[in-house]
Amino acid sequence: MTRKFNFCAGPAVLPEAVLERASSEMLDWHATGMSFMEMSHRSSEVVGTVEAAEASLRRLLGISDEFAVLFLQGGASTQFAAVPLNLAAKGGALTYTNTGQWSRKAMAEGKRYGEVIEIASATTDAPRAIPPQDAWISVEGAAYLHTTPNETIDGIEFHWVPQSDAPLVADMSSTILSRPISVDDYDVIYAGAQKNIGPAGLTLVIVRRELFGRALASCPAMLNWETMDKGASMYNTPPTYSIYLAGLVFAWLEEQGGLVAMAKANQKKAAALYSAIDSSDFYGNPVAMADRSWMNVPFTLADSELDKVFLAQAEEAGMLNLKGHRSVGGMRASIYNAMPMAGVEALVAFMQDFESQHG
Ligand SMILES: Cc1ncc(COP(=O)(O)O)c(C=O)c1O
Repeated sequence: MTRKFNFCAGPAVLPEAVLERASSEMLDWHATGMSFMEMSHRSSEVVGTVEAAEASLRRLLGISDEFAVLFLQGGASTQFAAVPLNLAAKGGALTYTNTGQWSRKAMAEGKRYGEVIEIASATTDAPRAIPPQDAWISVEGAAYLHTTPNETIDGIEFHWVPQSDAPLVADMSSTILSRPISVDDYDVIYAGAQKNIGPAGLTLVIVRRELFGRALASCPAMLNWETMDKGASMYNTPPTYSIYLAGLVFAWLEEQGGLVAMAKANQKKAAALYSAIDSSDFYGNPVAMADRSWMNVPFTLADSELDKVFLAQAEEAGMLNLKGHRSVGGMRASIYNAMPMAGVEALVAFMQDFESQHG
């Protein structure tokens, strides 16, 4: 077996130890004579596993009982609609920061449910930056403020938490679990699982229970956070196997030393890659230093004619999925929790070697 370095933005690399464990338990889970994915979601085994996954996540992120933890389906994109559907009943504008493509997708969905106001936008020319909060438009009585703490395509990240009188909503799909955060600073956090949590098919929502009661009457039961909380994420059949795998990832994170250890490792990986980009005129990154993503590092070659050669040679050298998003081109290295430092070191060495051949 040869595992390569997978820099995919998502579905992304998972910890090898987790895959090995899942593989060893695939046919006969804990001597039950069944695979976990064959078990009733009402069985004590599955309920116990979901509860253990939730408890582990609560420990990792320090989530208090004021918050519900929901394991849902439909991806982060479904939450683009669920956010207004759950929060807009009391009126008020739906406010958004626009820091990149995922912000804009969230906003487009919000427009179906109310008046959307874009209160801040990242600059579009390099160096791309998030404006400071004192430059944002202030809106009285907003239903919520939606932010995208890490823009997976654009490689732009908030390294600070905005202050907000309105409930603060964060699409943390590509940054969750990359470092410690204070969940209390937010009101709603949601994330597609397929980056730092586990396999695609699972969506995590962490919501302050105080916000229940603000859902539009038209909110479908399947998107209603209060309904899902009452049903302990089992209102319908949940993605049991994905939750089991996420639980293994959470346990792995705890074994690694939790999110403090992750932050240290992630910062080191990001610093090594940005330093390789910045120390050469051959490579470029369009994001202002203060707003650069730890998880998704887009970069360009001075001569874009070489992009294809770069990608082909990288693949030959065992580094996969470095192509930038189709809307922006260039390259993107996603270096989530499960990407080892060795993967980043291999990429940096390859980049230096490629430059010496083509620079
Ligand atoms: C920041 C962000 N938000 C939302 C999405 C959409 O997630 P999903 O495909 O789970 O709907 C993605 C996917 O990559 C993302 O990176």
